[in-house]
Amino acid sequence: MIKGTFPIEKFRELETPFYYYDLKVLRDTLATINKEAGKYENFHVHYAIKANANPKVLKVIRESGLGADCVSGGEVRASVEAGFPNDKIVYAGVGKTDKEINYSLDHDIFCFNVESVPELEVINELAAAKGKVAQVAFRINPNVGAHTHANITTGLAENKFGISMEDMDTVIEMAQSMKNVKFLGLHFHIGSQILEMDDFVALCNRINELQEQLAKHHIICELINVGGGLGIDYGHPNHLPIPNFAEYFATYHKFLKLQPGQQLHFELGRAVVGQCGSLISKVTYVKQGTNKQFAILDAGMTDLIRPALYQAYHRIENITSDEAEETYDVVGPICESSDVFLKAVDLNKAHRGDLFALRSAGAYGEIMASRYNCRELPKGYTSDELV
Ligand code: LLP
Repeated sequence: MIKGTFPIEKFRELETPFYYYDLKVLRDTLATINKEAGKYENFHVHYAIKANANPKVLKVIRESGLGADCVSGGEVRASVEAGFPNDKIVYAGVGKTDKEINYSLDHDIFCFNVESVPELEVINELAAAKGKVAQVAFRINPNVGAHTHANITTGLAENKFGISMEDMDTVIEMAQSMKNVKFLGLHFHIGSQILEMDDFVALCNRINELQEQLAKHHIICELINVGGGLGIDYGHPNHLPIPNFAEYFATYHKFLKLQPGQQLHFELGRAVVGQCGSLISKVTYVKQGTNKQFAILDAGMTDLIRPALYQAYHRIENITSDEAEETYDVVGPICESSDVFLKAVDLNKAHRGDLFALRSAGAYGEIMASRYNCRELPKGYTSDELV
């Protein structure tokens, strides 16, 4: 099996489990994003902080010049603390509290992606109390499906996100009549881990229709924000560490009819950080079961919940053994039967003390860790630290 390259001797000095971030992969990914998006003068990329807010990772992303996309006051704070410029911070979310809105107003963020009429009214009121004008875009639910796991589609009419297309004109007119908000444009996000470009084409077609409808009312958007969603190749983290950004941006360039001067914003999370991270864990026991054997790790669903929550696949490598392969169910120590990373997988023969890498875990890994079973949160190390 071809495996990733890891500083194994350094790993042996550290307490497991921990996340390891290969900053070369991250920097190469960011350079590719800047190169491919940079081909189109009005494309602006924000990083979706929700995928990974480790400060060491955020620093590298901020240095690359990307903006920040947030879905909570805590994420706005993380962006501010990581040094993202205020005018590159955008904030979506169906349930923004007064405290979160006030914090964002105090930091003059670039744009609130507003998801309901009551929220618009509250932002207008709170901005008035501060004598400020909040810039807003409306998150529209485009009723466009995506070929991905049901728990991570967001753009269907049945989902809780955004404002329905029928209400779009009314809310824009409301915003235009308010003194303390400024209408900037429209925001969308149809889901995550999307690999079929046709899903993004469907979104482009829908946005084109909506823009035509608005043009009839002489409403012009300064910006269109198409959210994130580009997927990664979980099966091949070694061969294909960088997603096909060229194809992704070219799809939007080809199918979305932008008006002169209009900005196009993106909010990519998984595609930015997914492949740079691995969860490194030690084999605590190899246990013979009935007709199978288990590799029991010191990492569990509290460290990486994606397999248990979405039946997600993460490639697993035994990075300290070259012995002939055997078949294992790789499981964690948590008292839940769903605490299984992968069943019936062929791996180099495992021994107590071997190190396993769970690959493609840079996105929605460390950030979704919990303290269930009173476990400690995993730490995160970068390749720059472990040289
Ligand atoms: N913008 C908004 C408004 C979002 O809700 C999301 C993700 C993104 C951008 C970034 O999407 P990405 O480029 O990463 O696909 N925990 C799940 C994924 C949930 C995604 C939620 N929203 C997982 O582990 O697969």
